[in-house]
Amino acid sequence: MKITILTLFPEMFTPLYGSIVGRAVKENKLQIEVVNIRDYTEDKHLKCDDYPFGGGAGMVMMAQPIGSAIEAVDPEHRARRIYLSPKGKTFRQDMVYALVECEHLVLLCGHYEGVDQRAIDLYIDEEISIGDYVLTGGELPAMVVADCVARYVDGVLSPESLVQESFSENLLEYPQYTRPVEYKGLTVPEVLRSGNHAEIDKWRRNQALKETQKKRPDLLK
Ligand SMILES: C[S@@+](CC[C@H](N)C(=O)[O-])C[C@H]1O[C@@H](n2cnc3c(N)ncnc32)[C@H](O)[C@@H]1O
Repeated sequence: MKITILTLFPEMFTPLYGSIVGRAVKENKLQIEVVNIRDYTEDKHLKCDDYPFGGGAGMVMMAQPIGSAIEAVDPEHRARRIYLSPKGKTFRQDMVYALVECEHLVLLCGHYEGVDQRAIDLYIDEEISIGDYVLTGGELPAMVVADCVARYVDGVLSPESLVQESFSENLLEYPQYTRPVEYKGLTVPEVLRSGNHAEIDKWRRNQALKETQKKRPDLLK
């Protein structure tokens, strides 16, 4: 899978290459391409934003540099083109499963007051929001989407890591413990140390139900 990120701030993506995603890129399981939209502006002063028609605060990203960048990275429109936007559909785990089926994702990061509507109308398939709040730019949302999708690319994580985790069956995950057995008077539940896998599975299922009931009862409806 290839993920192309279009941004005016490519330097913001360094953290994406740490940890598991970075390893997947190094091992060629996943390709991440960060493209500077400014490289595609036809403005002689390299401008990519301008004042909004109709007045109002802030600047708007111009359609031309965005359009040219998208045409360059996805000339035949084979990719799923996504604009990260607070106006988009709220990102959820079921959307991750759909996106991982795409061979190529193009993630457009807005900034300032957003992007010229014509860039969205002409080039974007889908708008995704990472929650009901407004960030300064689409760079963090693009990293959220890229990170979530990358976990499900074949070979990035072991298949066991992806089952029974939060949201996999509309449940939150059961509590996890590691060594030592006792920490500040709190002990790891005995069943987890019993070696009885049927009992462990039963305990985990019950705990997952309890966690979900307590913290996210909406998931059980
Ligand atoms: C300051 S915001 C623009 C907000 C816009 N003026 C509005 O009121 O809807 C700048 C950029 O950040 C990104 N952004 C902000 N909040 C976001 C969110 N919750 N989800 C996804 N992208 C977001 C978008 O790419 C947006 O173009």
